[in-house]
Amino acid sequence: MRHAPPAILAHNVTVAFGGKPVVTGVSASFLDCAVNAIVGPSGCGKSSFLSALNCLNESLPGCEVGGTVELFGARLDRFAPSREELRRSVAMIFQRPAPFPLSIRRNMEIPLTEHFGRNRREIADRSEAALKSVGLWAEVENRLDLPATQLSGGQQQRLCLARALALEPRILLLDEPTSALDPMAAGLIEELLGELKSQMSLVLVTHNLAQARRLADTVTFFWMKDGHGYVAESGPAETIFNTPREEVSRAYFAGHIG
Ligand SMILES: Nc1ncnc2c1ncn2[C@@H]1O[C@H](COP(=O)(O)OP(=O)(O)OP(=O)(O)O)[C@@H](O)[C@H]1O
Ligand SMILES: [Mg+2]
Repeated sequence: MRHAPPAILAHNVTVAFGGKPVVTGVSASFLDCAVNAIVGPSGCGKSSFLSALNCLNESLPGCEVGGTVELFGARLDRFAPSREELRRSVAMIFQRPAPFPLSIRRNMEIPLTEHFGRNRREIADRSEAALKSVGLWAEVENRLDLPATQLSGGQQQRLCLARALALEPRILLLDEPTSALDPMAAGLIEELLGELKSQMSLVLVTHNLAQARRLADTVTFFWMKDGHGYVAESGPAETIFNTPREEVSRAYFAGHIG
């Protein structure tokens, strides 16, 4: 029997800025319908690597990405016909919620109209469904025309999630999505991620090991050597947390280093 390809297969990925490598030789496999956590100390290149998965860093001055990435068995360049399509299908959520400085309604309408056309009824229905899916509809249905920036941080982050989910991504990249939120708001996002994994592949960069323990199905552990990051160990979450193979992983997960 042929196994389905992983959602993401990275082979020997390197990211450098101005000729200086910040991560080298990253080979990793991220499963579909799973939470794939990336953990490791600050500065070891987690965000740089994550951004390479939907080519978000290619326009940064001096940034070079090497190696290969396959998405569902297709080379990154062939996976989507354009960068817009790639980033719709492989969506990114950042640490600081980044809604457009427009109304809640426009935050949803702009990407939906771009993708699905101008049928107002359809756009309104899709917008409502996405806002419901992140538990935000009841909180905003009576103030859709207020600026999104007036929402709380947690609500803004759920709006950003709704905006991404409305476009039906296959992969969701999340770069410390709860670290700027209070525990209650973070808990809501965690709950959502637990639900979303039945529909897509999630790649979650987190500093919060307790969060990784709660959510992760697989763990990829980045560490630093000679000034750049690399993957020290990866595998099923249970193995990595309970019986890591490498000395450095044991020390990190026991809280002795990093
Ligand atoms: N646009 C950039 N230009 C130059 N150097 C950069 C750029 N972005 C990141 N770097 C460098 O790349 C290295 C890795 O940074 P990155 O943000 O990927 O690490 P990280 O593991 O995500 O850290 P943190 O956990 O603090 O978010 C750092 O030394 C950083 O200074
Ligand atoms: Mg980072």
